[in-house]
Amino acid sequence: MIKFNLYEEGGLKVHFLKKNEKAEGEFNKFLEDKKFIGKLNEMIYLPILNDDSHIFIGLGEDEIGLEDIRNIFFKLGNILRENKEHKVEIKMPELSLCNRKTLMASYEGLRQSEYEFTKKTDLEDKKEDFELTVNYSAFNGPKEKLQEGLEKITNIMDGVFLARDLVNETANVIYPESLANITKEKLEKVGVNVKIYEEDEIEKIGMKAFLRVAAGASNRPRLIVMEYNNADTDKIALVGKGLTYDSGGYNLKSASGINYMHCDMGGAGTVIGTMYALAKNKAKVNVVGVVAACENMISGTSYKPGDIIDSMKGLTIEVDNTDAEGRLTLADAVHYATNDLGAKKIIDLATLTGAVVSALGEVYTGAVSNNEEFYKDVEEAGKISGEKIWAFPYDEDFKKLNKSEVADIKNTSNNGAGSVTAGLFVGAFVKENIPWVHLDIAATAYKSKAENYLPKRATGVHVKTLNNLLDPTDC
Ligand code: BES
Ligand code: MN
Ligand code: ZN
Repeated sequence: MIKFNLYEEGGLKVHFLKKNEKAEGEFNKFLEDKKFIGKLNEMIYLPILNDDSHIFIGLGEDEIGLEDIRNIFFKLGNILRENKEHKVEIKMPELSLCNRKTLMASYEGLRQSEYEFTKKTDLEDKKEDFELTVNYSAFNGPKEKLQEGLEKITNIMDGVFLARDLVNETANVIYPESLANITKEKLEKVGVNVKIYEEDEIEKIGMKAFLRVAAGASNRPRLIVMEYNNADTDKIALVGKGLTYDSGGYNLKSASGINYMHCDMGGAGTVIGTMYALAKNKAKVNVVGVVAACENMISGTSYKPGDIIDSMKGLTIEVDNTDAEGRLTLADAVHYATNDLGAKKIIDLATLTGAVVSALGEVYTGAVSNNEEFYKDVEEAGKISGEKIWAFPYDEDFKKLNKSEVADIKNTSNNGAGSVTAGLFVGAFVKENIPWVHLDIAATAYKSKAENYLPKRATGVHVKTLNNLLDPTDC
């Protein structure tokens, strides 16, 4: 728990110094002894000096950005926790950034240091509950707006952590039914209307491709529809891939890839976390979240490589590979969102392709979009959130690669550009003339190692991006 107060004093004192900047009076000697020079993110903890403890933080010599602030405060949060310092006084440095956003980024960084997902039972192995009070002693700006900003980022971080928890939980805990129930429980509390459709209703709706992917599993599918309406503007749909487990099906995954495939509902996690934060912040938007949740399993009832299946849109699909299942579930979900739920814009998020790891590593989310302007808005919202997005070319020539000899479209293509063709496959089911952005988060939603403030495993990527897009914060 991290509490904050504005314009209050007391606690360990945090000082910021530019590179080679001298500290006040007696501190200099200590800093010189410790060889502190004020490099960006350099930090030194001086316990009990003149009654108070102190932490000095380097700001480097160049101008810094919001992401630097997040990283600095993440590290600060860790130091405070390690040293059981429960109260700090922070005089924020003067930066050429918007004060409100700087404050929010600082608080976000502290919150980032709180996250942990573990099932260990020995208390020694876990982060203990840590109470921290942050007194922001001096800051320019109207108190009310700053307070409001801090509350807003609190809710966004709760959404990020919700997304992370859902994705980190393994497939014995999160399966379509439990995902639907948890979503309902978490979101209805904050004012989102959650409808859960069971198999017979999904059948009535006509989601034939989705149901074929779900066919082999004992854990039956659920369609989760989340409505949050708080404006007179057009509705936007957020569609998240919701494979609570992806074994690959009869095109079974290899031993190295299969173990963490509970992460294949990363898109769903992001959509649910985003809806949570938007509603908690009472954002002025109309948004509908859609998750077609199922497992991709092997059994006598499974779909098979080579099958030709139907879809809600009516296009026939050749299933060249049962492991390219995400795009099949998304095909029906994006069609439903844009044709039946009346969304005028759509973003889908999916842990869709291994190929995106080869293209962009764990650093950038890969995007495909049919609308330059809409895409730029999403990219920019990502940038200010510290969540990088890079667009693949939207080119008719790639669409040819999804052509089938026997059906309207095929779910794989064997000529490279796997992330583009996967995205374009999904795009083929979006209603015509609807601006659409597809985000392939296969590498950014679930990390192989911790990096800066992001933990190993689930990151909750793009909860921040989508909140900044749909509920922007001014200065
Ligand atoms: N869920 C996977 C993609 C994935 C890979 C997510 C790595 C997270 C980490 C997806 O369903 C998949 O299996 N894609 C195949 C597509 C191929 C068969 C065309 C892939 O990328 O190998
Ligand atoms: Mn797969
Ligand atoms: Zn998958």
